[in-house]
Amino acid sequence: MSQPSVISTDHLKVCAQPKGLDPLRMPAHIALIMDGNGRWAKARGLPRMMGHTAGVEALKSTLRLCNKWGISALTAYAFSTENWSRPEDEVNFLMTLFESVLQRELESLEREQVRIRFLGEIHELPEKLQSLIKEATEKTCLNKGIHFNVCTNYGGRRELVLAAQRLAKRSATGQLDPELIDENSFAEELFTSGEVDPDLLIRTSGERRISNFLLWQLAYTEIHVTEILWPDFDAAALTLALADYQSRCRRFGGLDPLINDHSQS
Ligand code: FPP
Repeated sequence: MSQPSVISTDHLKVCAQPKGLDPLRMPAHIALIMDGNGRWAKARGLPRMMGHTAGVEALKSTLRLCNKWGISALTAYAFSTENWSRPEDEVNFLMTLFESVLQRELESLEREQVRIRFLGEIHELPEKLQSLIKEATEKTCLNKGIHFNVCTNYGGRRELVLAAQRLAKRSATGQLDPELIDENSFAEELFTSGEVDPDLLIRTSGERRISNFLLWQLAYTEIHVTEILWPDFDAAALTLALADYQSRCRRFGGLDPLINDHSQS
């Protein structure tokens, strides 16, 4: 849903959290733009693909930390609708990588109570990947741990267009009164339906762009950009991102509740 998530302790489990962080002010939902795999590989004289393979390890450990630290949802940008324009061998490599990771990791996702969902136009992905996605989604849908959303063949603008089309179709057939469309009913048509909006967006490799990611959902999200290349993103980098998040004053367009006298400003 698109409501700003009020700070709630519901998602906090009894778990070890890193020193220096306030367990009551952890983000409920983190969004991730995992950038810099290619540059990481190039800096080591390796093929770009090795950067993606190393990126999987960084994602696995970030997911594990978030689950352990009581974060309710992690949404990662794995493959955008624009990524099809990359060289064919890189696209094929990524699809095969997603398949092999799913095959290899499904058991541990189940064991660790992770609920995995793939957000995007899944029907356009290779058939083998589609059936692995279906299996992983079904086998983990009742899990009680972190919601792990993998944006694959995902585009933010496309997501908005698809939502508008669905609402328009229901209006055209008389099932929906267009006057009743509001922010909540619109958000229910998005791939992220049922998830609170991200509190924190982390983007690695120093780029300061949204890149067609979660255009609706990031309306009031705090953004943390780090120069670290994605495969090097580790517990210390995540702790820094969380500390940066906790240093922000979130006003959602209102005034700072900690400052009493707003009369002169
Ligand atoms: C961006 O780096 C990264 C990607 C397009 C792919 C991200 C995918 C993974 C980390 C694997 C995730 C795996 C699963 C199963 C979810 P880039 O290639 O644009 O790097 P560059 O900007 O340095 O070239």
